[in-house]
Amino acid sequence: MGKEIFWLFGIAFLVLHHSGAVWAQNQAEGRKLYGTYCLTCHGEKGKGDGLAAKSLPVKPADHTNGSIMNQLSDKFLLDVISKGGSAVGKSAFMPPWGGQLDEKQIRDIIAYIRNIAEPPYKDKALGR
Ligand code: HEC
Repeated sequence: MGKEIFWLFGIAFLVLHHSGAVWAQNQAEGRKLYGTYCLTCHGEKGKGDGLAAKSLPVKPADHTNGSIMNQLSDKFLLDVISKGGSAVGKSAFMPPWGGQLDEKQIRDIIAYIRNIAEPPYKDKALGR
């Protein structure tokens, strides 16, 4: 094996390793935001069983249900979170968060909810 190949693998490893670390950091950030803004309805574990959920006529989405959540694209999640349920034909009881949260924060939250889905979400860009 030539030296070039060695470096190629080395660089590929560093890039993958780094994107994994960034991914983990985003998730941690998203988790905090989720606890602040989403937990009251979606529940501490994201199961849609938060305190406020009982008094809502529509059940908040269960973010741990991978068979549903994994069908939804990042674009759709970004839309429903920033513009609210009514903007995507869902219930207006899902409020719009675009006023309080910027796009980076919403993407961090998406990274977090992707992580709690079971079966796990396969992110094509990161190969997981
Ligand atoms: C006031 C209660 C409430 C809060 C707070 C809330 N949600 Fe929701 N959310 C809902 C309800 C109710 C639905 C279901 C809408 C429907 O099914 O028509 C929903 C649906 C969703 C969906 C759509 C999932 C799907 O199956 O299409 C996503 C994603 C979501 N919420 C994310 C969030 C995030 C992220 C936050 C915090 C930034 C949040 N929600 C805060 C009530 C809430």
